[in-house]
Amino acid sequence: MDNTVLTRGRHLNHVAWLYDPVMERLSFGRERKFREKTLQHMDFASNDRILDIGCGTGSLTLLVARQLEEASLITGIDAAPKMIAIARRKAAKLGCPAVFSVGVSEELDFEDASFDFVVNSMFTHHIDHELKQRSFQEMYRVLKPGGKILTVDIDRPTTLLGALMGWGARYLLIQEELVDNLKGNLPALMAEAGFDSIGNLEHVHGLVSFFSARKGGGSE
Ligand SMILES: C[S@@+](CC[C@H](N)C(=O)[O-])C[C@H]1O[C@@H](n2cnc3c(N)ncnc32)[C@H](O)[C@@H]1O
Repeated sequence: MDNTVLTRGRHLNHVAWLYDPVMERLSFGRERKFREKTLQHMDFASNDRILDIGCGTGSLTLLVARQLEEASLITGIDAAPKMIAIARRKAAKLGCPAVFSVGVSEELDFEDASFDFVVNSMFTHHIDHELKQRSFQEMYRVLKPGGKILTVDIDRPTTLLGALMGWGARYLLIQEELVDNLKGNLPALMAEAGFDSIGNLEHVHGLVSFFSARKGGGSE
């Protein structure tokens, strides 16, 4: 597989092999619960076409695939070829035909109105303000009228611990991309791209929110 990364977003190609073990340990075994919560907040039908943006090693993609009539209805994309290689290996091990491809959120390689649902989990804090704008516009473009989106990510902290973790990460990791999230700008960015009915379904750990929204048109 070509190992070129075509985004200025903070891809994780160099540490892809560490991602699953680190996530499991850093979350003290709560990763599975977090993914199940994400799944609960995804309001889709079993025959929907779904896109998981910045899917990483595909843990959420594969969980969602199990709820679909055909697992191949879900596609996971990530800018990091090594993340996609791991996701494909995990899918093969499970005998799951979910589709994984290398791609960048700011220039999605899909036709307009291709999907019923778009999800992105812990992804937007990896891209800067302009890439966030372009990526939400792209998510909007590839959704069918009436299609839905769930954005799960770091948001404005609501507890001291959340603030320490969020702003601590911003300065310790020198990660400017976190600022929009920490200032609570995600709903405005989604609205700017055209989404409506934006709601915060849940806020956890004083730091992470589950934002749902919809593309107008279609049937309610
Ligand atoms: C923290 S990981 C989240 C992975 C997964 N969604 C999860 O919940 O575990 C963020 C992912 O975004 C990817 N990424 C960064 N910039 C990207 C871009 N412009 N387009 C697509 N993926 C990108 C990284 O390579 C990384 O795998």
